[in-house]
Amino acid sequence: MKFSAQYTCPSNIAIVKYWGKYGNQLPKNTSISFTLTNAVSNTKITIEPSESRSIKFSFEGKEKESFLPKIENFFNKISGHIDFLNNHHFIIESSNSFPHSSGIASSASGMAAMAMCLCDIESQMKGTPIDMNKASVMARLGSGSACRSLFPKLALWGNHPDYMKSSNEYAVPVSNDVHSVFDTYHDDILIVSSNEKSVSSTAGHALMDGNPYAEARYEQANNHISKLKGILKNGDVHEFGVLAELEAMTLHALMMCSQPSYVLLEPNTLKVISAIRSFREDTKLPIYFTLDAGPNIHILYPDNIALQVQDFINKDLMIYSPQQLIIQDKVGMGPQKIG
Ligand code: PMV
Repeated sequence: MKFSAQYTCPSNIAIVKYWGKYGNQLPKNTSISFTLTNAVSNTKITIEPSESRSIKFSFEGKEKESFLPKIENFFNKISGHIDFLNNHHFIIESSNSFPHSSGIASSASGMAAMAMCLCDIESQMKGTPIDMNKASVMARLGSGSACRSLFPKLALWGNHPDYMKSSNEYAVPVSNDVHSVFDTYHDDILIVSSNEKSVSSTAGHALMDGNPYAEARYEQANNHISKLKGILKNGDVHEFGVLAELEAMTLHALMMCSQPSYVLLEPNTLKVISAIRSFREDTKLPIYFTLDAGPNIHILYPDNIALQVQDFINKDLMIYSPQQLIIQDKVGMGPQKIG
C-alpha cells in the first residue's frame, strides 16, 4: 500500500546553546530554544512497497542526487526506530521558505520535517498516535538541534534537574510557568554574510573535546538553564536579553579558543552588536541579540516595541547587510501537517 505525509517544520534559535556532544549525538549540556514561525522546511514523503530501499529526492522541484548520501546516512541512523525503511521506495519532496543565500541552516527544519513525516506514516500504518518523543529522537539523530524544532514556542533538550521530564535523548516542550511576553518575541535575522561556514558545526562540536574551558562551559550552561527558568516565569525581558547575549558571545568565544582556533564573526557582526548596544543604552528598550554558529545577527525583542525596533533596523542596521536581507521571524507553533 502507498502512504504519504506532508509537514512544514520550523527552524529554531537557541537561547542557551548546545555546543559539545558525546556518544550518539547526545548533548554535553542542556539547551533551550525558541521555535520559529517563518523559516520552515516543507517536506512530503510518499512510500510504496519495494524489494529493497530506494530513494528519490527533489528539492524545490528539482531532483537532487547529491543530497542522497545525507538522507541514506540519516535513514541508517534511525533504522532502529522505523521498521519500514528497508522495504519501500521513498519519494521525498522538500523546499525551504528561506533563501539558500540567507545563511540559515536548513538542517534543523529539514531533519525535523523528515522525522515528522516518517512518524506520521508509521502512525497511519499502525493506527496509533504519533509518538513525539520518538520523532524528536529521530530528528536529533539527523541533526542535534533539530530535536527542539518539534514543539511550540520553547523547547528544552538535555537532562536537567530543574525539568523533571527532560532527557538527553529528546527535547520536551517548555510550557508551564512561561510569561506571556515570550509568546510575542520577534527574531529578526540580519544577514551580514551568506558565505558558507568555514567550519561545520560537526567539527565545532568535536573541538570542544580538547577545549580547556569545556567543563566550566557545560556547568555555566546548566546554571543558565536554572536562571532562565526564573526569568521565563517572571517575564523580565532585560534579564532575558542579558543572558541571551552572554550565551551568544560565549559560543563564539569557545570557537576562538579552540585548537585550532577559528572565528565565524565578521567585521559587520561586531558593528551591528555595537549599534544594538548603543541604541539600547540610549532608549532603554529591551532589544538584544543572539548568534548562531555563523556571522548573522538574530535581533530579539518583544512585540510591544516592534515599531521602534524596526525603524532602528531600517535606518541604522540595514547598511551592514550587503544583500539588504533581513528575515523577519517570530516565536511559532511548531510542525504543521499539510497532508
Ligand atoms: O545541531 P547542530 O549540530 O548543527 O548544532 C547547532 C548548535 C548551535 O546552533 C550553535 C546551537 C544550538 O543549540 O542550536
